[in-house]
Amino acid sequence: MVVGLECVRGREEIMAKAKILYVDDEEINLSHFVTFFGEEFDVLTASNGQEALGIFTMQPDLAVVVTDQRMPEMTGVKLLSEIYKINPDPIRIILTAYADIFDITQAINQGHIYQYVQKPWKFDELQRVLQQAVDKFYLLQENKQLISLLDEKNQLLTAANKQLEADLALQQTLEQQRREVEVKMLAQAKLASLGEIATGIAHEINQPLTYIQIVLQSTGRDIDQGKLDLQELTTDIKESTRQVQRISEIIHHLRTFGRADSGEMVEVSLPEIFANAMILYRQRLRIQSIEVEETINPDLPKVFGNPIQLEQVFLNLLQNAFDALQGAENPVITVDFSERDGVLITTFSDNGYGIAEDAIGKIFEPFFTTKAVGKGTGLGLSIVYGIVADHNGTIECRSQEGKGSSFTITLPVSGNGNNSAHNALTQ
Ligand SMILES: Nc1ncnc2c1ncn2[C@@H]1O[C@H](COP(=O)(O)OP(=O)(O)OP(=O)(O)O)[C@@H](O)[C@H]1O
Ligand SMILES: [Mg+2]
Repeated sequence: MVVGLECVRGREEIMAKAKILYVDDEEINLSHFVTFFGEEFDVLTASNGQEALGIFTMQPDLAVVVTDQRMPEMTGVKLLSEIYKINPDPIRIILTAYADIFDITQAINQGHIYQYVQKPWKFDELQRVLQQAVDKFYLLQENKQLISLLDEKNQLLTAANKQLEADLALQQTLEQQRREVEVKMLAQAKLASLGEIATGIAHEINQPLTYIQIVLQSTGRDIDQGKLDLQELTTDIKESTRQVQRISEIIHHLRTFGRADSGEMVEVSLPEIFANAMILYRQRLRIQSIEVEETINPDLPKVFGNPIQLEQVFLNLLQNAFDALQGAENPVITVDFSERDGVLITTFSDNGYGIAEDAIGKIFEPFFTTKAVGKGTGLGLSIVYGIVADHNGTIECRSQEGKGSSFTITLPVSGNGNNSAHNALTQ
């Protein structure tokens, strides 16, 4: 991290004005000190402890305090410990006779001194000690400034972090709202396709109804005209009964499909499930001239699954293929059911516009769509993926842009290790 070092004042500049307070009860020592060090440092002097404390409180920028130990009213150690209480920053030095070992110990313990210098002092030695003390003082000042700068930066960072967290929370809320809007749009889109499906179903029911109506009308006319042919009537009644049966199958299926999904797992035939899904799509596919070619391998085993959910898989695949085949030449959907090694393999292909290479890895992600707003919300294949996974199966897609897409679904054959799927769905 880069800290604003430029804010810390240059040491050279400050050192030129380093202030030193020298305390000694002997006048001659004071004047000697000023003579020797007055040029190099800004020297202030005091002849006793009280006077020194007075000067000290008035000079907050003092760098070093040098004091004699033996003074009548206040010893050097006492003075330095008082100074330490007022401001611990200036560097403290004591001058004492070599024999005063007790004073030296006290000076270290109570006066928190930086160094003691033996009296009588030698110029070179004291000059070196003073210079080091001044250096240390400014180094400590710089450190303090750096630490406070770091603190400041830390506070800024903490504030920035908080802002980031708030931004993130806002983004999550917006994302949530976006999804809610998309789900609403999906509901609208589903309603629209429900309308189209309803039209298809109306058509499916209308055909047998028209047939029955014609039979009834012509039978009534034959009775009126006394030309009733019993053999013809028997055939008509048989066919009408078949047509009624067809209508009730469609209605029965719609009622089952409309009911809330109970999560029930049973043995099911996938081609039958596909046929049920086709009831809802046949008419729409026919209008668009989309062929459906189905291959069912003989002796195809059943799978253990939830019929409603598995039908949703086909409905979503059909819808996607239907969309992809808009404007295609000779549009065709191919569905193939086969079994290998206890696995039921369903291949569902179309020769529609296909999927771009960079999109293929994303198609199973929720909300991934390449369709126009309001047309698709990108939930279809993620639902399909979830259902297949719940059935202990797999789904893969291969596609080539402009050529078509092919989805391969594998599901374990009933009794082939898919009881856990049963548990997962009924929990
Ligand atoms: N058969 C297909 N042919 C071409 N592209 C497909 C096909 N199936 C899926 N896709 C691509 O995968 C995307 C995701 O499909 P998915 O079914 O999840 O969502 P959607 O169809 O866009 O919207 P929704 O199904 O929610 O109405 C589609 O937008 C499309 O780009
Ligand atoms: Mg879809």
